[in-house]
Amino acid sequence: TDGVLADRYGRVARDLRVSLTDKCNLRCTYCMPAEGMPWLPGPQLLGDEEIVRLVRVAVRLLGVTEVRFTGGEPLIRPGLLGIVAAVAALEPRPRISLTTNGIGLDRLAPALRDAGLDRVNVSLDTLDAQRFARLTRRPRLADVLAGLAGAAAAGLTPVKVNSVLMRGINDDEAPALLRFALAHGYELRFIEQMPLDAQHGWDRDTMVTAEEILARLRDEFALTPDPAERGAAPAETWLVDDGPARVGVIASVTRPFCGDCDRTRLTADGQVRACLFATEESDLRGALRAGADDDELARRWRVAMWGKRAGHGIDDPAFLQPVRPMSAIGG
Ligand code: GTP
Ligand code: 5AD
Ligand code: SF4
Repeated sequence: TDGVLADRYGRVARDLRVSLTDKCNLRCTYCMPAEGMPWLPGPQLLGDEEIVRLVRVAVRLLGVTEVRFTGGEPLIRPGLLGIVAAVAALEPRPRISLTTNGIGLDRLAPALRDAGLDRVNVSLDTLDAQRFARLTRRPRLADVLAGLAGAAAAGLTPVKVNSVLMRGINDDEAPALLRFALAHGYELRFIEQMPLDAQHGWDRDTMVTAEEILARLRDEFALTPDPAERGAAPAETWLVDDGPARVGVIASVTRPFCGDCDRTRLTADGQVRACLFATEESDLRGALRAGADDDELARRWRVAMWGKRAGHGIDDPAFLQPVRPMSAIGG
């Protein structure tokens, strides 16, 4: 290989998150305004072959071993199955996962599995249909539940469920969400809300913290530390009622995990982001379209990652939200 994606703090990025589109078929209030966003212009989006080319560079020259497709909503990308199949054909074959809102997954899960997808993470913040419609501005709870079931039936396991709790909106649902996940064999993770919404409405003081979530769960479940190695995972996990089921909390704000970060990101318009909260990006699309060879693309990617900051800096008084919202980064 050409050398790994290392940064000056000694971290090595093995996990690539690729955003396939900034568009989405939901409008979660904590993410986007009702009217949606000014979407990225079509010509700026990487084509399917361009995406596969860059993933190939990451896998073959830069030591990336895990590839996760994100959005927006990745299931609405027309070329998704072909992209997954092409990435699964790379050598060495990376592990391939997808983060989705689950709509359409019931129909797509078998084909995705056949294309080479290994597992999925599905977002679900409430089990109440009316709340779901209010929270996502679309009445699609049943589609998401069907998507989860379809993913499990197709063997895209472990199926993980991501829940963001918001005060006064769904923060009373933590135990119900866990009972639901246990009943279906899904691995639930609660996510602390991060300052990445397009509307810049995030408020540290009202954010539901990991500590609160754990306290609420402990009213109904026994949680013991998970003996499994955490590695670079964002989620800290606990065994539920002595296991084997687990529950996780992704406490980016109150228990940051940047010191162990192994992630690099590629946006749908071909920019490398060293961090979810990076304020700078490195353009690979321009280089690729100007005819750069694989070694040159790899070199640029390594330079981009070397500049990765030590942490997200949310607690820094000078913290500024990145210009690009969550929906165009992919989480
Ligand atoms: P697994 O490999 O299944 O553990 O996936 P994951 O949890 O890394 O990915 P997923 O896309 O399901 O993300 C769940 C939540 O973790 C989302 O809110 C992401 O924004 C957040 N997340 C993922 N990676 C990072 C990261 O590097 N930093 C921070 N702060 N949050 C992250
Ligand atoms: N903070 C935390 N998580 C978020 N997500 C979307 N926006 C935010 C935010 N501001 C979640 C989605 C999805 C995952 C990719 O990130 O609900 O589960
Ligand atoms: Fe990694 Fe940045 Fe996430 Fe911290 S905030 S874990 S450095 S991507």
